Amino acid sequence: MQITLQTKLCEQFGIQYPLFLAGMAGGPSTPELTASVSEAGGLGTLGAAYMEPEDIRAAVRRIRELTAAPFGVNLFVYQAGDDHTRMQEVQSELNKMRQQLGIPASAGNDVRSANWFEKQFEVLIEEKVPVISTAFGILPAAYMQTVKAAGLKVIAMVTTVREAMLAEESGYDAIVAQGSEAGGHRGTFTIDDHPMGANIGTMALIPQIADRVSIPVIAAGGIMDGRGLAAALILGAQGAQLGTRFLTAVEAGTNQSYRKALLASDEESTVLTKAFSGRPARGIKNAFIQQWEESGIAPLAFPTQNTVTRDIRNAASKQQNSEYLSLWAGQGTRMLTEDQTAKQIVEDIMHQAQAILQ
Ligand SMILES: Cc1cc2nc3c(=O)[nH]c(=O)nc-3n(C[C@H](O)[C@H](O)[C@H](O)COP(=O)(O)O)c2cc1C
Repeated sequence: MQITLQTKLCEQFGIQYPLFLAGMAGGPSTPELTASVSEAGGLGTLGAAYMEPEDIRAAVRRIRELTAAPFGVNLFVYQAGDDHTRMQEVQSELNKMRQQLGIPASAGNDVRSANWFEKQFEVLIEEKVPVISTAFGILPAAYMQTVKAAGLKVIAMVTTVREAMLAEESGYDAIVAQGSEAGGHRGTFTIDDHPMGANIGTMALIPQIADRVSIPVIAAGGIMDGRGLAAALILGAQGAQLGTRFLTAVEAGTNQSYRKALLASDEESTVLTKAFSGRPARGIKNAFIQQWEESGIAPLAFPTQNTVTRDIRNAASKQQNSEYLSLWAGQGTRMLTEDQTAKQIVEDIMHQAQAILQ
């Protein structure tokens, strides 16, 4: 079997290399990082889930100033609404952390999470963003029709064969198959069946999905170099999506203390936790996770837990205190590099994959 780096996926998305930058909401994603990956021949993606609609518009326009190449924007699709069931218990535990950071305590029962999806989606359509990618759910039919009518491409992140088949049936153009090694949130949307996410390893997940859907599969989770990309293609994927590998890129918005924690971490450092957001996610274990786990308190449902912990994460970010930040990371962090641009990272990965596949 001849494995090539110029997969059908490249043709379909108008890109040179089958290398996708994960949208990484909450700081690491920048227009510069997105544009650099696209300019280098991959597909850059802006993680826009937590951005206000007009900020997304400005970021999309900035990306277009930096590159004429295709790029994507990633949003979360989920059931909106807040969980006020155990607010007091949760806030009193979080107040201990606030005290440690020297920020005001909160009794907050009036928590209201922003729900921008409708407007965010509208902006993507109005700005004709070439690729829309989604996590945590699949687009309802009416939205899918709008995407198709606008002639845009759409990619879903999935974590099981069942989710992959649902995405294909809904009209998605491609699938990101996210293995359990992946950094950040689990994309699982059959979450009632998997409260901590479906955690199937990349090696087992990719061929099983590739055998059962006819749309292209993009492998994600623990892929850090050309070896990982080549392996993904051999397993039946037509491309790879990398998040963690780009967190230490020069153009990433990753906070300095987060960068330090990443570079000091290894394959034993990360855990799956719901402590920060109420949804399972992989990140480097720190004091926040430790304290929360020791409390024995169940987190509120997403997005409420994310909203109530935001002031803590923001203060920790300002104070460069990595103990109270969400340090999302995958399991491949020994392969991270310092001071490389996204272009250099893409080139290194592609050279290595080319050498292997020749
Ligand atoms: C810091 C960080 C933030 C992430 N944020 C998002 C996001 O906003 N949307 C999304 O679909 N995936 C997000 N992911 C998950 C990626 O899409 C992808 O599945 C993952 O990065 C692949 O594993 P890797 O980190 O080992 O490369 C994030 C990952 C990281 C590391």
